[in-house]
Amino acid sequence: MTASSSDPVSARRSLRHWVLIPAAGVGRRFGAAVPKQYLSLAGRPVIDHAIAAFIDHPAIAGCVVVLGESDGWWADTSGYANHPRVHRAPGGAERCHSVRNGLDLLAGLADEQDWVLVHDAARPCLRRTDLDLLLDTLQREPVGALLAVPIADTVKRGSGGRIDATVPRADLWRAYTPQAFQLGLLRRALDHADASDLVVTDDASAVELLGERPVLVEGHADNIKITRPEDLPLAEFHLAQQQNAGSGTVD
Ligand code: C5P
Repeated sequence: MTASSSDPVSARRSLRHWVLIPAAGVGRRFGAAVPKQYLSLAGRPVIDHAIAAFIDHPAIAGCVVVLGESDGWWADTSGYANHPRVHRAPGGAERCHSVRNGLDLLAGLADEQDWVLVHDAARPCLRRTDLDLLLDTLQREPVGALLAVPIADTVKRGSGGRIDATVPRADLWRAYTPQAFQLGLLRRALDHADASDLVVTDDASAVELLGERPVLVEGHADNIKITRPEDLPLAEFHLAQQQNAGSGTVD
């Protein structure tokens, strides 16, 4: 069949992809004076590794970083502070509000059906091959998709320091980022969650609340989120391994 603009698959292929990086968190669990996205990792801030994974990819039209009101680090430390395709939006009280603000800014640059890849500023080890796998999935899956990894450990639900139940792990996944949805759908989903007074901790959760079933794309477990001090040397190790194997952000 010849591809035409009336063919929904070829029409989807022509949609642009944007990256939205929520970076307005203060990193309470990390407990450093500097928010974790600005800590130095292999010679540059964590957030710069997150942006580098996308910004020179041929499928990426541009990037929005969402910064906290009292952010005193971005302008002085990020190598992308004056990049022509990196735009800034103001942060919100929770991650979902920050993402929502970023979507408002994107609405002035992007079409409703363009893809938005939301990626945590604190995830510096995204592999180019995993990003490509996600982008490829979007060509067939208009509801959207996210990188995820099946859970290998046995999972317990507990309270008061004791086990209440063992949760069967067979169908459990860790939800990572990027998580990719069309701009219009993600905006509707986050508004719907907000109107229901729900604070969702990832973007897929908001889309799920609309009754949709986003696609789980199996990525690699080294796409860690810097959360605790011991994660920083681990991330440095993963970046070095990826560079040696030629599968990291420097591909
Ligand atoms: O706190 P957590 O690690 O879940 O944050 C995930 C991402 O969301 C981080 O990149 C953080 O900077 C961002 N975030 C945000 N606005 C908030 C809280 C977190 O942009 N209010």
